[in-house]
Amino acid sequence: MLNIKNISKSYESQLILDNISFEIGKGETAAIIGPSGSGKTTLLNLIGLLDKPDNGNVFFNNEDVALLSENGKSIFRNKHIGYIFQMHYLLPQCTVFENILIPTLSYKHKADKLAAIERAEYMLEKSNMIQHRNKLPGQLSGGECQRTAFVRALINQPDLILADEPTGSLDEENASILSTELIQLNQEFNTTLIVVTHSNQLASKMNKIWHLKNHKLIGE
Ligand SMILES: Nc1ncnc2c1ncn2[C@@H]1O[C@H](COP(=O)(O)OP(=O)(O)OP(=O)(O)O)[C@@H](O)[C@H]1O
Ligand SMILES: [Mg+2]
Repeated sequence: MLNIKNISKSYESQLILDNISFEIGKGETAAIIGPSGSGKTTLLNLIGLLDKPDNGNVFFNNEDVALLSENGKSIFRNKHIGYIFQMHYLLPQCTVFENILIPTLSYKHKADKLAAIERAEYMLEKSNMIQHRNKLPGQLSGGECQRTAFVRALINQPDLILADEPTGSLDEENASILSTELIQLNQEFNTTLIVVTHSNQLASKMNKIWHLKNHKLIGE
């Protein structure tokens, strides 16, 4: 489904990623681990079309999506990719429910909007967040914020979820709950999942583990 071919990236003539290639299929899961500053977030940003590689291609179902126009990329991202960042970036003035529906604001048809509301309710039930639906982010715990961000990433039923240290700011118990939910919903919707993590516990739940080291990605 996702095929990364020979991508390289430097910042200010400092090489970060050197000729990285990998493939991941529909519904598969992978963890990327590596030291701080090794380029994990940089790699996720390239995969997620948030940044441009210096060289190389990003094939999504055999289409070279790195070649799309900026507008084409933004439509593609909204339709196919869900992002979970280390900082959750919830809008503080919007409730949990409103935050979750942000990716669906561009829907034009009423039936699509209603279907999104139904999905949001279903996913909030599944992640034990339904009782918090009308709260503002400032009224939530860190784990609840991450779960909200997680439902928001899933609301458009993306083909690919990119998660950058989704459990990084959580205590062990909440990290474990979130990673279990992440995997359950990934299986239910057959979503491909790539997660950057420092947690061996989360990494061990993935189909593949890749190490980013000395600018290269090495599989296990
Ligand atoms: N926009 C940028 N301009 C210049 N240098 C950058 C930029 N973004 C990242 N870097 C540098 O690239 C390197 C890799 O950064 P990146 O954020 O990908 O690391 P990381 O593996 O995600 O680290 P961490 O585990 O701490 O999140 C770092 O040395 C960082 O300073
Ligand atoms: Mg990072």
